[in-house]
Amino acid sequence: MGKDVIVACDFSSKEQVFDFLDKFTNRKPFVKIGMELFYAEGPQIVREIKARGHKIFLDLKLHDIPNTVKKSMAVLSNLDVDMTNLHAAGTITMMEGALEGLTRPDGTRPILIAVTQLTSTDQERMEKDLLIKEPIDKVVMHYASNAAKAGLDGVVCSPLEAGKVHEICGDNFITVTPGVRFADGDVGDQKRVMTPEQAKKIGSDYIVVGRPITAAVDPVAAYERCVREFCD
Ligand code: C5P
Repeated sequence: MGKDVIVACDFSSKEQVFDFLDKFTNRKPFVKIGMELFYAEGPQIVREIKARGHKIFLDLKLHDIPNTVKKSMAVLSNLDVDMTNLHAAGTITMMEGALEGLTRPDGTRPILIAVTQLTSTDQERMEKDLLIKEPIDKVVMHYASNAAKAGLDGVVCSPLEAGKVHEICGDNFITVTPGVRFADGDVGDQKRVMTPEQAKKIGSDYIVVGRPITAAVDPVAAYERCVREFCD
């Protein structure tokens, strides 16, 4: 599994994202496009960023009935993204439908990963709002193993959970981990963070890094530092 740094392009317009990407003249980073940019600019933004030579993780977190997810995944697959995701809470049947929809006629498909429990959901909210009484760690691991059973490639998780996910779902099951900060950087609103080097040691396959790169004085240098600490 090749390790890579994915840059979270949390911008709300095409101008902002292109201003940012124009700074990268040598290496073309793997970028994450989320709902904000996708809903603002539509699918054309994916085609344009792809045409500039970037790999794309389209982070739209699908969750609907299996048939709708299957058909929507077929559309995303035609957009030629490299990675996309859904909510494991949609059930194993929904995840199987998603994989089917995502698979192109030639048998290739983007990497498909699942969100287990969002990191914004804590034990109290899960119990009170969702009526899930099990410990949150157990729920996360159960959802990860459901994703593996459905044939998905991996999960988005905290770097702190990556080791356990690999223990349960195998070394080849991909862990994509946000919540990464430089040792000497701002934590911001993230609660449980790790440096790129620690994320590498614990076995993350991809780190998702937003503000430590996008808000840096020199974003290219910050990206290169992430790559050095995580990939080399
Ligand atoms: O700026 P920062 O490095 O905190 O950005 C992290 C990115 O990863 C954001 O796009 C955020 O929405 C996403 N993310 C996260 N935690 C999760 C899932 C996704 O921070 N559990």
